[in-house]
Amino acid sequence: MADVINKKGDNWIYSDKVKEHFLHPKNFLSGEPKEGDFDAEGEAGNFACGDIMKVWIKVDPKTEKIKDFKWRTWGCASAIAATSMFSEMVLEKGGMAIEEALKITPQDIIARLSGLPPQKVHCSVLADQAFKNAVENYREKKKK
Ligand code: FES
Repeated sequence: MADVINKKGDNWIYSDKVKEHFLHPKNFLSGEPKEGDFDAEGEAGNFACGDIMKVWIKVDPKTEKIKDFKWRTWGCASAIAATSMFSEMVLEKGGMAIEEALKITPQDIIARLSGLPPQKVHCSVLADQAFKNAVENYREKKKK
């Protein structure tokens, strides 16, 4: 993991990718979700700072590919950038299968962001945890 953390972390340097995703977040949900827009939702809180992430997913029931992923956070710039990147990762190439998306680690997200300062690595776990909770919510709903 050390190789994907910004080596200049002591200086709180953010990569251009982090800045791009923070300033222009992808798949951010503004407003309230409408009935039927999504199949499931998940939330995660960060013990390190108290920030919260909420995500919504739409899944193709036949292929179990993620057709839509939206998110909203009460989190910092790094959480925004990391979740924006995570949303791109799960939606690229027509949507990733749930099982594949569950394998994405915070380290994968940090690598795609070209690093995060070490002090902000904990912010990259929110998307991944909220997504796992959304998948759990999706599977519970499917059982009913
Ligand atoms: S400081 Fe809370 S998510 Fe970054």
